[in-house]
Amino acid sequence: MMTELELQSYLEQEEAVKKRFDKLKQRDVILQVNNLSKKFKTPQGEVTALNNVNFQTHRREFVCIIGASGCGKSTLIRILAGLESPSDGEVLLDGKPVIGPGPDRGMVFQGYTLFPWLTVKKNVMFGLQMQKHSPAVSESEAMQWIDLVGLEKFADAYPHQLSGGMKQRVAIARALANRPRILLMDEPFGALDAQTRAKVQAYLLEIWRNIDITIVFITHDLDEAIYLADRILVLKPHPGEVLEMIEVPVRRPRSPEQFISTEFLATKKRLEELIHPVQEEEENIEDKLNMFRLTKVGDDVEGDIEDIEA
Ligand SMILES: Nc1ncnc2c1ncn2[C@@H]1O[C@H](COP(=O)(O)OP(=O)(O)OP(=O)(O)O)[C@@H](O)[C@H]1O
Ligand SMILES: [Mg+2]
Repeated sequence: MMTELELQSYLEQEEAVKKRFDKLKQRDVILQVNNLSKKFKTPQGEVTALNNVNFQTHRREFVCIIGASGCGKSTLIRILAGLESPSDGEVLLDGKPVIGPGPDRGMVFQGYTLFPWLTVKKNVMFGLQMQKHSPAVSESEAMQWIDLVGLEKFADAYPHQLSGGMKQRVAIARALANRPRILLMDEPFGALDAQTRAKVQAYLLEIWRNIDITIVFITHDLDEAIYLADRILVLKPHPGEVLEMIEVPVRRPRSPEQFISTEFLATKKRLEELIHPVQEEEENIEDKLNMFRLTKVGDDVEGDIEDIEA
C-alpha cells in the first residue's frame, strides 16, 4: 500500500535560516507600504486592484511577489515605481513618500526595454548621461556594470544581436548603473525559455549577493520565487489583498539541487494552497468540457472521446 509522504511545515526553520531572518529583520527598512489601495474607474464600473496592502522590505532583502493573474502585482510595482498613484495609503522609500519615478528605483520589466538603436554600452550609459556624468565617466561606469553581468565582450553589440537572456542582463546592468536603492522587477524572465531563465536567475542571485541592493521581484513561477526570495508576498485577486508574507526556509546560497529539498517542497506546497485553493474552478472546467463533448464538431468526426483516450 502507498503511504503519503509527510512533509515538514514551511514554518519550520533550521537554526542557520532562523539566524539569517533575525539579522535581516534588524536591518533598516528601505521600503514601507502602508494601507495601500488602488481603484480603477472603467466603463464597466470601479475595479479594486489593490485593497489595504501592507508590507515592508529591509535593506538587501530579496522579496518576491506572487499571486494569480489579475491580483494587482503589476499595479503594485507600478505604484512602487511612481508610475501610478495610489487611491489610498502611501509608499515610503527610505522614509520619504514616493510621489513619482526617481533614480532611487531601478526597473526591469518583462519584454525587452532596451533601445534597439543603441549598443549595449550606450544603453547602459544612457541613464548615467541623463544624470549629467561626463561621457568618459559614464563609459567607465557602464563598462563596470556590463562586466558584472558578464557581457564585456558584447559591449559594442546591438540588442538584436543578443539572446533574450543577454538582453535582460543588459537591462539589469542598465537599471543598476544608476545606483538605485531598490530594483523593481516585473516578470523580467517571463519570456525566456527554461534553460536561459535558470541561468539569468543564478546571475541575478550572484549580483544581488555582491552589491548593496534590495530587490522586489514579481513572478508567476513558484519555483522561481522560492529559489530567489528571502520572503514571498502572496496576493489574492479581486480585490488584490495580502494573503501571507512567507519566510522562505531554504538556506543560502541557493542552488538548483535545492528544488527537491524538503524545505523547498514544503514552501511550494504552501504557495499552491494559497494560490490555487478553489476546487470549484476545476469543476467548472469539467462542466464546460462536458458541454463540448456533446457537441459534434463536423460530419467527418467519428468516434468519441474514449477512442482518443484508448
Ligand atoms: N489602467 C487600468 N485601468 C483599469 N483597470 C486596470 C488597469 N490596470 C490594471 N487594471 C485592473 O486591475 C487588476 C490588477 O491588474 P494587474 O495588471 O495589476 O494584475 P497582475 O497581477 O499584474 O496580473 P498578471 O499576472 O496577469 O500580470 C485587474 O483586474 C486589471 O484589469
Ligand atoms: Mg502583471
